[in-house]
Amino acid sequence: MNLGGKLTQNILPHPFLKWAGGKRQLIPQMAKYFPKNYNKYIEPFIGGGAIFFHLLPEISIISDNNPDLINCYKVIKEDVENLIKSLRKHTYEKNYYYKVRALDRDRNGFAQLSDVEKASRTIYLNKSGYNGLYRVNSKGFFNVPFGRHRNPKICDDVNLRRVSRALRNVEIYLGSFELCLNFAKQGDFVYLDPPYHPLSETALFTSYTKSNFDKTSQKKLFDVFKELDKKGCYIILNNSYSEFILDLYKDYRIVTLKAKRNINSISQKRGLIDEVLILN
Ligand SMILES: C[S@@+](CC[C@H](N)C(=O)[O-])C[C@H]1O[C@@H](n2cnc3c(N)ncnc32)[C@H](O)[C@@H]1O
Repeated sequence: MNLGGKLTQNILPHPFLKWAGGKRQLIPQMAKYFPKNYNKYIEPFIGGGAIFFHLLPEISIISDNNPDLINCYKVIKEDVENLIKSLRKHTYEKNYYYKVRALDRDRNGFAQLSDVEKASRTIYLNKSGYNGLYRVNSKGFFNVPFGRHRNPKICDDVNLRRVSRALRNVEIYLGSFELCLNFAKQGDFVYLDPPYHPLSETALFTSYTKSNFDKTSQKKLFDVFKELDKKGCYIILNNSYSEFILDLYKDYRIVTLKAKRNINSISQKRGLIDEVLILN
């Protein structure tokens, strides 16, 4: 039965968080490069998981080094009904938002929150905060201001249950990307979507977590890429169209993609910019 594009989209799970660098808009340009057949699917920078939710692979391992994010995936997988109950208690109101946001300022208090309460807080802040950003300051405190949304859907229970079902057989880990080397074997598909190398020093946008993803991290990732290539994995990696990245991966296949991005964070001006897709 052909359900047709729109209908199919409406019954499938989709990312439950808005995440900086989300790949949803690039899927039409990327899809033709995905391998048709592979064993496991491995995604070590899962973020909002746009590609994972697009592919819905049978066997997958996902990870990220953001503990709040990984906790959400685990809670949705294991305890989605209690998460839904908790999300229903939140209200979209400025003072309440700042109270919930401030919970991480008291480390001891935060530690006492259950995993469900932590996931509920992360999702609430993502739906109610400015532009759906996840950003922490140097102390690791969430610092996104209250957003201006018209009636945000804080608890999308239908999608959360779909996500929970999609995660049923998925292994989920908290950790740095090198972790994928422990699982990857010949014939696996490894999709790598790291924080991008900045186009200019001032455009440095690497505050997904406390630690910045600098040139040393990009080089370490390149070593992992080569290692995965040697193992016989299918690899696809996204990054910025920058001299540093083009030079690093010069021996591999590089395809240019056109992405709509905020090209100027102050004016929120959007434009089409080049990005790269690197394949082995
Ligand atoms: C560009 S985003 C991924 C976006 C994702 N593909 C999507 O569609 O939403 C990069 C992700 O890498 C994670 N990250 C940053 N440094 C990392 C590291 N050293 N190891 C693993 N994950 C890392 C961030 O937490 C973030 O979720």
